[in-house]
Amino acid sequence: MTLPLNPQWTRRRFTRAALAAGLASAAPRALPALPIWPLKKKDKRPPAPEPTRVTGPESLRAHAAARGLLYGAAVVPELLDVEGMATQGTTDGYTQLVGAQAGILVAENAMKWHALRPTPQSFDFSQADRLMRFADLMGQRVRGHNLCWHEGQPSWFKSTATRENARQLLVDHIQSVCTHFRGHIQSWDVVNEAIDPADGRPDGLRKSPWLELVGPDYLELAFLTAAQADPAARLVYNDYGIELDTPENEIKRGQVMLLLRRLKARGVPIHAVGVQSHLQATGPQPGAGLVTFIRDAARLGLDVYITEMDVNTRKLEGGPAIQDTVVAKVYADYLGMVLREPNVPVALTWGLTDAHSWLNTVDQPWVKRADGAPQRPLPFDDALNPTPAFYALRTAIDHAHISQPQPAAAPAPTAAPAANPASEPNPDPNADPNPNDLYKPFPVQGSPTTKPTAPQPHK
Ligand code: XIL
Repeated sequence: MTLPLNPQWTRRRFTRAALAAGLASAAPRALPALPIWPLKKKDKRPPAPEPTRVTGPESLRAHAAARGLLYGAAVVPELLDVEGMATQGTTDGYTQLVGAQAGILVAENAMKWHALRPTPQSFDFSQADRLMRFADLMGQRVRGHNLCWHEGQPSWFKSTATRENARQLLVDHIQSVCTHFRGHIQSWDVVNEAIDPADGRPDGLRKSPWLELVGPDYLELAFLTAAQADPAARLVYNDYGIELDTPENEIKRGQVMLLLRRLKARGVPIHAVGVQSHLQATGPQPGAGLVTFIRDAARLGLDVYITEMDVNTRKLEGGPAIQDTVVAKVYADYLGMVLREPNVPVALTWGLTDAHSWLNTVDQPWVKRADGAPQRPLPFDDALNPTPAFYALRTAIDHAHISQPQPAAAPAPTAAPAANPASEPNPDPNADPNPNDLYKPFPVQGSPTTKPTAPQPHK
């Protein structure tokens, strides 16, 4: 919600009006800048054009912070004028927007294996380091995306990785990358998209190169290695296709939840599940199934991060205004639902401006509109103006459950539970379920947690 800005109002009057209009977040903040010409009684000049009031205290970043949330976006580090920002001389609109709107950043591609690993022996942190520098300058947090995925491999991977060396390759990569950024990352997507019911395995695991080369314990290996190398970071399992109330999403959501229970029961250091949230403008929408999933995650002691929101309008007929209206409605409904849950403290859009959205840049049939028009999935359009999605996001954030500000680090389990504790009947129906009642852990050859391990140095 925005207020008409009358240049003759006093701060108190503005604040009263803001409060009356339900804009509680306006109360403790500074007033937006007012026109500075002297106001004389007979001044007949037309009022100054409406300021856009979307930056500073009216930004997504500030509104989220007022609720104890982190709002952020995926960015392309190459496009950021880091030097200009460092000398306060940048005139680049994208750079200014990213600095103003995001409280947390994630590299859209620059921390993936293919970007960090030009050869099996070398690392290239140049773009990721630029992002870190920018975030430092702007007081922003950073998510690390990602440490282990079936996609995004460098070209050398296929011919180099074998059953003999893959475990070491994974451990070395995670150790090197997490150590490089140690202490500067809010959360790591340690494993991305490991579940695929279509692959038909009872444990739901995708037949990814990591599964095939390392075995099903590659996930816990990845989490344990990340925890040791960057103990302050929150560790996240991230996936897509778990948002909707469709049979397919329901099955995948169930398998992701079983994976999370397995990991928790084995004492694996994991703190959150990332729900990517690549939403669609048409067709079934997220609903009760996702809310149940978020509450089940809470019972496991896990937060839920909304990691990659956008709204695909591929099948939506109509011009830009219709796209804007529907996209804003999808965001409003979605965030209105998930941000009410107290264990959802972080939400990012996959990009900040339509011009850089992957929905407009990847060459895939599932992003192409029949009319050939570009998609408008993000809070700012390609001229960097706020879209209705911006206002929908901000209003939903204003109504979010108030969270405590996110600590940089929080305690994690210090000792792995016994490998197979006896399954006790659970007398209290509202108590946390005993994970061993709900699934049977799959046998894991050579798993780091099959024998008792020393307490992990994770805190
Ligand atoms: C996408 C990027 O946006 C594209 O630029 C790239 O070509 C492919 O990857 N889920 C994820 C992200 O976890 O890493 C993907 O990012 C989008 C889907």
